[in-house]
Amino acid sequence: MEKFIEEAAEQFKTLLREQIQRQEKMEKAAVKTDFTAVPKLIIGLIDGDGIGPVIMAVAEKLLRELLKEDIAAGKAELRKIQGLTIENRFALNKSVPDSVLAEIKKCHVLLKGPTTTPKGGGLESANVCLRRELDLYANVRPVSIPEKGIDWCFFRENTEGEYALGSRGIELPEKLSMDFKVTTDGGTRRIARAAFDYAAANGKNRLAIVTKANIMKKTDGMFSRIAHEVGEEYPEIISEDYYIDIMCANLLNEEICSKFQVFLLPNLYGDIITDEAAQLQGGVGTAGSANIGDRYAMFEAIHGSAPRKVERGDGDYANPESILKAAEMLLRHVGKQQAADRLSRAVELCLKEGRVKITGRADGATALEFGDYILEKL
Ligand code: IPM
Ligand code: MG
Repeated sequence: MEKFIEEAAEQFKTLLREQIQRQEKMEKAAVKTDFTAVPKLIIGLIDGDGIGPVIMAVAEKLLRELLKEDIAAGKAELRKIQGLTIENRFALNKSVPDSVLAEIKKCHVLLKGPTTTPKGGGLESANVCLRRELDLYANVRPVSIPEKGIDWCFFRENTEGEYALGSRGIELPEKLSMDFKVTTDGGTRRIARAAFDYAAANGKNRLAIVTKANIMKKTDGMFSRIAHEVGEEYPEIISEDYYIDIMCANLLNEEICSKFQVFLLPNLYGDIITDEAAQLQGGVGTAGSANIGDRYAMFEAIHGSAPRKVERGDGDYANPESILKAAEMLLRHVGKQQAADRLSRAVELCLKEGRVKITGRADGATALEFGDYILEKL
């Protein structure tokens, strides 16, 4: 037992030193990419696995059409990045193989299909690895339900909390397990600033800071305190504290849910509540997710992967809506507002006509057929 305690204490020292270094790095001024100044915008396309390649094929086809002039003029490139499949990741025992990461870092922005995240074991999630390696600290997830007056935008901290060391906990087999949760000053300040800046720029005057600071006193206590400090610089925005449990209930409370506008949350609560919010919008297959950093940005579906299901033998039935929402967010992020508007209008038109496919249900269009309907409407 003493030996275990000694080893665990050593591991803890290493983790603490690494996290202090990360915090110090964050304090240095960040260099933001100016996409309008980039001579050739490189958009990396990562298929992912399961339904990933299917929904990504739809997204690629539409992006090629929307950006065809820029591509022809050499101002944009859609670059396929191979190798981020669960098979390859297991074979190499790397959540993101080095060669794949090197290719990814040559792009400016990325559109990524869902990647399978193994339960337990030692292999880290590819999402978590990419968010850390590219320092994509702001996970931005809009949810809108116009008929209920709902226009929410979630700002989920994306590199810290339970995720920072999620694969590096301590275990005394069959007796005890301990994971760690990390909150840093710099990490909280930058996500808080992103959320308040968004609120200020979009005329939103309410921002909910959602934690469990009554229980997670150190980490969430610090998150809430810093969020309020940042909020003081935005006097026109009302910052309100909520606990995550009651906020999950509030989203379902029809009398008050439409009053919420912008949400600021630590990583894990943000993960969970955004699936709830997406479900209220129509399902996790309907929501996009932006992972934004100062240098890079990666756009993806809000959901993880699902197995491919080829029924009737004539194609894949997976709803590409979420990845198309992500593609729309990507276009807006790089300043292609018109292309983004065209895409969102075309998707809306097709959805109104009922051309939606739910993964695994073979009673309508395949993913690619759905993509072709959208293409006609662009
Ligand atoms: C998400 C997903 C990921 C997460 C998984 C796939 C690792 O659920 O983007 O919300 O937990 O962050
Ligand atoms: Mg999630």
